[in-house]
Amino acid sequence: MNLPNALAYSHTLLSECVGPGDTVVDATVGNGHDTLFLANLVGHSGRVIGFDIQPAALQETQTQLNLTGLAPQVSLHAMGHEHVGEFLTAETQVAGAIFNLGYLPGGDKSLITHPSTTLTAVKALLDHLHRGGRVILVVYSGHPGGLTERDAVLDFCQQLPQKSYQVLQYGFINQIHHPPFLLAIERR
Ligand SMILES: C[S@@+](CC[C@H](N)C(=O)[O-])C[C@H]1O[C@@H](n2cnc3c(N)ncnc32)[C@H](O)[C@@H]1O
Repeated sequence: MNLPNALAYSHTLLSECVGPGDTVVDATVGNGHDTLFLANLVGHSGRVIGFDIQPAALQETQTQLNLTGLAPQVSLHAMGHEHVGEFLTAETQVAGAIFNLGYLPGGDKSLITHPSTTLTAVKALLDHLHRGGRVILVVYSGHPGGLTERDAVLDFCQQLPQKSYQVLQYGFINQIHHPPFLLAIERR
């Protein structure tokens, strides 16, 4: 079996820390691949909170959720993930979250994630992450603005205190065209 790419490995890492009844966040819903995956993991007793700034993509994802019977445990919000803190009460414990950075494949390439809003959301999520919970970022750097965001998230992750978090970086290092890599922040 071949080594999984960053996207596939993000699902493996989430399946290890997310289970029935958990609260999780899909910070970049897009076409909903991660949303559906998370909705299956948490089941009807869990909760998936999803964000995207493209209403058309959210609508498509909502259709898929309705067709697959996964809609009850998912709430989609047409707004930036930097607002995630407004949807988490002091008691909310988050088991996992995923960010797929960059632009929506097949969509408007000018609608990209940005370092400041990405990091605002990551920081808000870390405040609610329970022990063993993971915030996963799949980082793309090949598009305009991508390198700046890559550097910002790497810099942030490298400075997280080792006592409270461990951070994994995973990706292929001998591929052309800036392959995506993954960062997984785990609360200790
Ligand atoms: C790489 S795509 C996500 C792909 C998605 N996970 C899927 O399964 O199709 C990145 C997404 O981030 C969204 N995005 C950009 N800025 C955002 C923000 N501030 N908050 C939430 N989503 C944002 C884009 O609209 C785009 O759909």
